[in-house]
Amino acid sequence: MRIHERTDADQDALVEVLWRAHVFGWPSTWPADPAAWLTPTGLRAAWVAIEDDRVVGHVGITVPSPGRMPEVTRLFVDPDHRGRGVADALLDAAEQSLPGGHVRLDVTEDTPAAWRLYERRGWCLTGRGPAGWCRPDGEVPTLRFYAKRVD
Ligand SMILES: CC(C)(COP(=O)(O)OP(=O)(O)OC[C@H]1O[C@@H](n2cnc3c(N)ncnc32)[C@H](O)[C@@H]1OP(=O)(O)O)[C@@H](O)C(=O)NCCC(=O)NCCS
Repeated sequence: MRIHERTDADQDALVEVLWRAHVFGWPSTWPADPAAWLTPTGLRAAWVAIEDDRVVGHVGITVPSPGRMPEVTRLFVDPDHRGRGVADALLDAAEQSLPGGHVRLDVTEDTPAAWRLYERRGWCLTGRGPAGWCRPDGEVPTLRFYAKRVD
């Protein structure tokens, strides 16, 4: 497996991986414009994981507005490629790209596969709160907020 910075050429394959992740439950709502969803406001960099010449995962770093703490965002791995360290490799690339200081992220309470991974990597739970969005059934999920100091 290798990790490289995302390019426009990865976009179509990435949307297909996102679709497979959605079929497995995340994201709960399929975005109206998946390519735009993969490029949220303030995206500074993004990486893809490649296995056998296929895109199998993604992560990004955003700075939502000037002076705000960087955030890890849009982490997902193809369901057929989970449990092999793909997310670990993506998070290594994202965390190592930062100049030093704190980085944060939000994760839903009901995705323990994700927050166990963050806790194993030294991320600290800093709080919980309601999401600013709702699922297709109208439920507002609870988010867990995490932060980590990188050197
Ligand atoms: C959360 C997610 C990104 C994890 O991706 P992943 O590539 O499976 O993650 P990893 O392989 O690095 O780790 C997953 C598990 O496999 C284990 N693992 C990693 N490498 C392994 C290996 N070589 N052999 C056996 N197990 C391994 C890890 O220890 C981990 O176990 P744990 O859950 O008990 O801690 C993936 O499940 C996903 O895409 N979920 C949907 C999207 C999502 O929830 N994103 C987070 C939004 S904030």
